[in-house]
Amino acid sequence: MTKNMTIDSSATDLGRPSDSVPAKCDPSPADTSSKAPSSGQTPSSTQKASPRGLVNEQTLGASTQCVHSGEQRQKAEGSITAPIYAASTFTFESTDALLRFVNGEDDREEYGRYGNPNEKSVEAKLAALEGAESAILYSSGMSAIVGLLMAKLSSGDEIVFFDQCYHRSREFCAKHLSRFGVVTHQVPTGDFEALEAAITPRTKMLVSESPTNPHLTTIDLEKFVAVGKSNEVETLIDATLATPFNIKPIAYGVDYVLHSATKYLGGHNDLLAGVICGRNEQLESVRSLRGVLGGVNSPHNLYLLERGLKTFALRMQRHNENGLAIAQFLESHPRVERVYYPGLKSHPSYETAAAQMRGFGGLITFSVKDADWKATSRIVDAAKIPRIAASLGGVESLIEQPLVMSYYHCTPEDRARFGIADNMIRMSCGIEDTDDLIADLKQALQA
Ligand SMILES: Cc1ncc(COP(=O)(O)O)c(C=O)c1O
Repeated sequence: MTKNMTIDSSATDLGRPSDSVPAKCDPSPADTSSKAPSSGQTPSSTQKASPRGLVNEQTLGASTQCVHSGEQRQKAEGSITAPIYAASTFTFESTDALLRFVNGEDDREEYGRYGNPNEKSVEAKLAALEGAESAILYSSGMSAIVGLLMAKLSSGDEIVFFDQCYHRSREFCAKHLSRFGVVTHQVPTGDFEALEAAITPRTKMLVSESPTNPHLTTIDLEKFVAVGKSNEVETLIDATLATPFNIKPIAYGVDYVLHSATKYLGGHNDLLAGVICGRNEQLESVRSLRGVLGGVNSPHNLYLLERGLKTFALRMQRHNENGLAIAQFLESHPRVERVYYPGLKSHPSYETAAAQMRGFGGLITFSVKDADWKATSRIVDAAKIPRIAASLGGVESLIEQPLVMSYYHCTPEDRARFGIADNMIRMSCGIEDTDDLIADLKQALQA
């Protein structure tokens, strides 16, 4: 017993639109320096003032959006922070009230799997940040990928994806979607001729990360979208590593943008979540399937995510600064063989990254000169500030050797195929002081 729960980033509310109060401030339009083309999808919220009182949310700067977008200006009991609605179900005062809801006259909650006030406000904040009409939250990034692909694909359909990607996304497509009769084709990352050649009349979606994990290759989004549009195939970009602070794929015409919110959006290594952004109409079936499959966040988790998002733009500035400074330091170090970082001119996709991205993020992969896997682990072990752990995008710097972390159980042939070398180290630069991180890496590289 649910109704269409598609939200609009400008129109979401916590159930009582009439409670919204007019804005007392009209913040001046902030940084609109995004290099995204203006020909992209225009979110509906750019055209009207938000009922929450934030005029023209899409032209506000990222920090203002982080702090205010999606939120009711006046919350219960005057609380400045969002109350945690710890409810799995929502009561109706009468059968009349229930009838108003089922007839679509009353926009409110019914049952936690279909929605929750905390979820609505975080979804609206994320949609505003992404410049999207709508956002759908999931309990993890993987849950978001699975939710989207399961909603959009049927037996006999095909998808094509660029081969550099998070290994579990590859695993889901290759091992599990295939069980439902969906065929996946992998083509070399950034090879648009191969992408086009792999499209058949049954192809329903083109999938890529940008930048990719862990090789940090940036995809030319204009070309990616052009291939999709000319073949009438939808496009999905997993922009987890870029974040909406550094790139807005929807402005390029990408249909679906996905993030593991576990990473930079949450930002504190303390939660798992995922989100898909896109157009209301295209996301309708996705939201509806989520209501069937579940995979939603608890209100407590949503509160943590909202709290993390308040400082997202600020944190990204430091992640970008640290990432670039450390990548440059590593590139100049005699023990380092190669550095993969989108902001370095030596990266093969640098020109694309420089044209599309506002900053390059905090993730760096590098290889150690003349080192076997043990010599490489000694460097990882010698680092005192970054902690040895999987994941990325949190305030704490993390370091790992992909060989003994995510790819340990792969065959050497598969590792070679995925471009994972024994002497590779991946570092997620947190928000610690740049000089401290560089000094620490300097001493670790002597190990
Ligand atoms: C690029 C990318 N996409 C998706 C995911 C999956 O996200 P989650 O761990 O939140 O399920 C990850 C996880 O590391 C990732 O790196």
